[in-house]
Amino acid sequence: MTTKPFLRTLAGEAVWPPPVWLMRQAGRYLPEYREVRGQAGGFIKLCTTPELAAEVTLQPIRRYGFDAAILFSDILMVPWAMGQGLRFAEGEGPLLDPVRDRAGLDALDLDGVAERAAPIMETVRRVRAGLEADHPNTALIGFAGSPWTVACYMVEGRGGGEFAEARRMAFRDPELFAAVMEKLEAATLTYLLAQADAGAEALMLFDSWAGLLSPSGFRRWVIEPSVRLATALRAARPDIPLIGFPRLAGPLLAEYAAAMPIQAVAMDTGMDPKWAAAHVPAQMALQGNLDPQAVVAGGPALEEEARAILAAMRGRPFIFNLGHGIVPPTPPEHVAQLMDVLRAG
Ligand code: CP3
Repeated sequence: MTTKPFLRTLAGEAVWPPPVWLMRQAGRYLPEYREVRGQAGGFIKLCTTPELAAEVTLQPIRRYGFDAAILFSDILMVPWAMGQGLRFAEGEGPLLDPVRDRAGLDALDLDGVAERAAPIMETVRRVRAGLEADHPNTALIGFAGSPWTVACYMVEGRGGGEFAEARRMAFRDPELFAAVMEKLEAATLTYLLAQADAGAEALMLFDSWAGLLSPSGFRRWVIEPSVRLATALRAARPDIPLIGFPRLAGPLLAEYAAAMPIQAVAMDTGMDPKWAAAHVPAQMALQGNLDPQAVVAGGPALEEEARAILAAMRGRPFIFNLGHGIVPPTPPEHVAQLMDVLRAG
């Protein structure tokens, strides 16, 4: 039996004070990250150099003693592993060669995914070994984007907007869009199984743009493929717990949680934790959902917001986190302040 608080929570225990980790906990707000990022010569290089990726994964664990480490990679490494052109331009975010037709779809290569993603699996092995050696109570989370969110980037070719092209393709040519999603789903399954085999102890599905869809679209493009993916993962690796994050789902969060064979559901910043507690199965852990801007601000507002979330979640399996990723202007000492509040319970 595991004694790691994060894994006990995912097994349905109401551990208190709750385990904590923060989305994007490895990143530009940390000077030690910026230093390694500078050495790496690019973000993709950083993700595919196991020594450096393992180092930046462990940096926030050393600094704050979080209950979980999350593999340092990106949701767009799956399209990259299928051979889609990807670059991260300074100040612009990710840019991909968009997939808009059959030829673009056919150019994506499923057979090479495992080999191209091999360095990322080496990172998983190194991080797991580093945790077992120096942070035995910290669990390792592997992750991927959910098919809908990753398909948004693949079709649009960029972020920063509302993914109009991707959403239109889903209406105009649902057959082509479904074919993109199907290929992506297969690649994502391969990628996540490989992470589990390399030592990930839990897997998280990021569906950052789930909330852009209509209810019918949400059922078809978020719930259906995510259920298929999660079901396949549970069948193949029944010991690996799953976390789903249908960001901006609003009340459809309840439908998502009821349909998904997952052990935890993550709440975005706007979700009322009390509402979620009333509408998500009691044995399913909740995760979230402090506003990342409250951590930038610090001070009494940070403490009040954190305590209100704790009060709403007391007595049920809960993992403290943010409602979305930590942002670059966050002062690292505000994260330390947050940890003091949380450890006091
Ligand atoms: O610490 C961690 O959380 C682990 C690593 C991680 C990254 N991205 C690293 C990263 C994780 C889990 C992600 C997930 C991710 N990536 C999501 C889902 C969660 C979310 O935030 O909604 C999405 C939508 C992406 C796609 C992505 N990657 C975008 C839009 C950007 C540009 C915006 C930005 O923050 O720069 C990235 C780049 C990225 N991914 C960075 C990091 C640390 C910054 C790159 C840099 O160092 O220059």
